[in-house]
Amino acid sequence: MAKLVHDVLLLIFIKLKSCPTTLYSCVLVSKMWCDAAVRILWESMSNESNPTVRAEESRKKLYNIISHFLPNGPNEILQKNNIILPLKRFPRLTYNYMEYFTNITSIWIDDMLNLLIDDDSIFSNCKRKLLELEIYKLILNKCNNVKDFNWITDIQLYLCPKSDDFFSKLQSLELNQEFVTSVILLSLPVFCHSIKNLKLHLYQDCSDLSLFIMMQQNLQSLYLNFDNEDEHYEQYPLLSDAIMKKGFKLKEITLTPLVALIKPVFFPSLINIQYLILNNDNGELDEHVNWKVWKYNLRLASFPRLQYLETSYLPSSIETLIIKKSSMNLLEINIRYPLESQNYPIENMQLIKAISMCSNITSLIMDVDSNNVREIISILQNCSKLEKLYFTTKIKITPNGDELLNIMSDVSPAALREFSFGENWNLSLNGLKSFFETWKNKICFKLNLLIIMINLFILGPRIMIN
Ligand SMILES: *[C@@H]1O[C@H](CO)[C@@H](O)[C@H](O)[C@H]1NC(C)=O
Ligand SMILES: *[C@@H]1O[C@H](CO)[C@@H](O)[C@H](O)[C@H]1NC(C)=O
Ligand SMILES: *[C@@H]1O[C@H](CO)[C@@H](O)[C@H](O)[C@H]1NC(C)=O
Ligand SMILES: *[C@@H]1O[C@H](CO)[C@@H](O)[C@H](O)[C@H]1NC(C)=O
Ligand SMILES: *[C@@H]1O[C@H](CO)[C@@H](O)[C@H](O)[C@H]1NC(C)=O
Repeated sequence: MAKLVHDVLLLIFIKLKSCPTTLYSCVLVSKMWCDAAVRILWESMSNESNPTVRAEESRKKLYNIISHFLPNGPNEILQKNNIILPLKRFPRLTYNYMEYFTNITSIWIDDMLNLLIDDDSIFSNCKRKLLELEIYKLILNKCNNVKDFNWITDIQLYLCPKSDDFFSKLQSLELNQEFVTSVILLSLPVFCHSIKNLKLHLYQDCSDLSLFIMMQQNLQSLYLNFDNEDEHYEQYPLLSDAIMKKGFKLKEITLTPLVALIKPVFFPSLINIQYLILNNDNGELDEHVNWKVWKYNLRLASFPRLQYLETSYLPSSIETLIIKKSSMNLLEINIRYPLESQNYPIENMQLIKAISMCSNITSLIMDVDSNNVREIISILQNCSKLEKLYFTTKIKITPNGDELLNIMSDVSPAALREFSFGENWNLSLNGLKSFFETWKNKICFKLNLLIIMINLFILGPRIMIN
């Protein structure tokens, strides 16, 4: 049988990274295939966002292997406390599997505890805690290649042996204020100061957390999830100050789901930002937000490298300002659910004008006020690289949908591959018919590269056209 050399196999298996089931089949082909694939298989499993979607049988196989590395002798801690792991023992493990983990999420650890401690007695909680501690000790000790770690446990991990080595190698860290105490935040940066991507779940402002951020030397991406939803605003002055000090190095920032909880004074420092995500989903009904302060700070800012802008439930004037402060080299704009205002049609028109200056944009999601349907011509004419378009509109009136379709037929960019629109566009059957007639002719010229996706309700049934 002809053989593929190891390096070629490796290239193929790397392509299969997102598909652990296929990789698992490859591992079973031969020793040579296994040697090449096993590491990638473990990396890909450790990178799954939710491992529990896999069948219980396959998770149990994984946990069985991990259990081989836990202290499981008759005189060791687990057995002494009557924690009997349901081990199917292998006489010898061929690989040092623990080194293949690249990404540790608490989800699989919880799952492992649930599946291994099948015990309803009053001791089950103590057993869980003991086993959890042993699993974390194993991870800190043996998983030398972990780059991404999510700390969702109240175990004092920094006290475990070799934790300094483990934390010093991390690139991405997720922390939850519910679990990390001041002591942790003050001890951690001693050896953990090279985090590139930091994800925080916050309940309150805290000087230790701000200090932790300021101690990071390589911080590039910051994700802040505000879990408190009280009626108070700008509750995080210390955090805001920390971001301001680190901001000039940040390439990516996400604020969610209530952006007004943080003082926007850090915007002027974000001079290298490439991805800006302002998700205000829980702020829809807020009337107390002082958008003037936002505008003041945005006017002082400039985002020459901004490529990706995603927002929800913000005033359109804020979005327009952000785009104007970029160098108009945005590649993707995703603006959903603009906040209502008296001036909405005008603000919406200004937003359309600003977007039409972004000539390199490839993907656009936005709302178009029914007064401004013709205005989108400037986007379609100016942005020739547009591949993906999704337009919503707030109110269903006569017959804005036909107008949109006419415009799309006349001036849509040559690169466009996907076009969809929200259900409020009011279309007539004739409008739709003539739209398809026009596209039918265009498709011949464009080698069927166009996929028109229409997502609407007409006379009840949903129509999907490819
Ligand atoms: C892990 O998955 C993310 C997407 O969820 C991907 O961008 C990243 O490259 C993957 N990492 C590894 C080591 O496979
Ligand atoms: C770790 O896994 C999560 C969830 O799949 C993913 O989003 C993240 O990108 C992964 N981290 C790395 C460094 O691949
Ligand atoms: C669009 O991209 C080209 C090539 O990358 C670049 O030269 C040009 O400056 C960009 N346009 C804008 C408006 O940034
Ligand atoms: C189209 O782009 C050019 C150059 O970026 C700009 O001057 C012009 O105003 C734009 N047209 C519209 C209608 O916005
Ligand atoms: C939609 O347009 C039709 C005419 O094409 C009109 O009769 C109907 O009232 C419109 N619907 C709404 C909700 O405005």
